[in-house]
Amino acid sequence: MAFSFSFFLLPLGLILSLPPTLGSGWSCPSQCVCGQDRLVNCSRRELHFVPRLLNPDMQVLLLGHNHLDFLPPGAFVLLPGLLSLEFQSNGLQTIHVQAFWGLGALQSLDLSANALQTLDPGTFRPLRALHSLSLAGNRLMRLEPMWLSPLLQLQNLSLQNNLLSSMDSGVLDRLPALRVLNLHGNPWVCDCTISSLCRWLRSHTHKVPGAESLMCVSSDRLTLRPMAALTEGSFNHCAHPLTPRELVVITVLGPLSFLASLAGCLIFGSLLTAFRARRQNCCVPCRRVKRPIPKTLGLDDPSKNSTTNFPTPSCPL
Ligand SMILES: *[C@@H]1O[C@H](CO)[C@@H](O)[C@H](O)[C@H]1NC(C)=O
Repeated sequence: MAFSFSFFLLPLGLILSLPPTLGSGWSCPSQCVCGQDRLVNCSRRELHFVPRLLNPDMQVLLLGHNHLDFLPPGAFVLLPGLLSLEFQSNGLQTIHVQAFWGLGALQSLDLSANALQTLDPGTFRPLRALHSLSLAGNRLMRLEPMWLSPLLQLQNLSLQNNLLSSMDSGVLDRLPALRVLNLHGNPWVCDCTISSLCRWLRSHTHKVPGAESLMCVSSDRLTLRPMAALTEGSFNHCAHPLTPRELVVITVLGPLSFLASLAGCLIFGSLLTAFRARRQNCCVPCRRVKRPIPKTLGLDDPSKNSTTNFPTPSCPL
């Protein structure tokens, strides 16, 4: 409840805090250059905060090459007509999950050359019309299927030059409109976790420019292998998730085999004991000799302990 309430308050708060000049239309932020072509250029202005912008007609916003390391909630909520947003080279580390609210018309988003390590799963949810997304040149070590799954119109995805060593093909399966994907410049590792991506690559080679030159490093870090050439057989050694039937077999067979081996030990042990008892019985009629205790034992009373019964070696063993 508080969540949706703040959503409605956010634009209201922004409108109330706007300068009075806006009555005549809209003002251009002092730091930016506003052209006639619905383009606002705020790039390379040493900005530390996203300027306050209100313009329903604005279509292109350039914010690249500033120092905007944080994108706050509702940063663009008053720009409903925005089609293209450039936000490259800002040292951007954090995007608030509500930062892109209101950008339902946005078609192109450039977040390249920033410092993003992770994304909130709901971040891209408002971007229903997005065609092109660049996350190139960030520090992403992983990409979760949920992060991009709302982008049903996405055609162009740039993920080059990140720190991705693996990616589940589920990320790409949720992008039905995808046409061009760039994956170069990542430290891909050819282990079991990359098998689904390799499978996807084999059947979508035409969507990945230079797919045949994509390399992954073997897990022993000694050889580079072309990812598109890794066949299903290359991952034969990888454990597949257990089917319910296999699970049942394992849970039943495990305790059963334990009990069986226990019973086997008991039977074998009692057989052995019985066998040895029989052997010893045969020794009873044997001659017993009295043998003196060796002196080294140092017993005090030789008269009492000087003799003990020992079976003779002549007894059959
Ligand atoms: C935007 O402004 C920057 C800095 O003045 C300039 O270098 C750049 O060429 C401009 N871009 C456009 C498209 O006008």
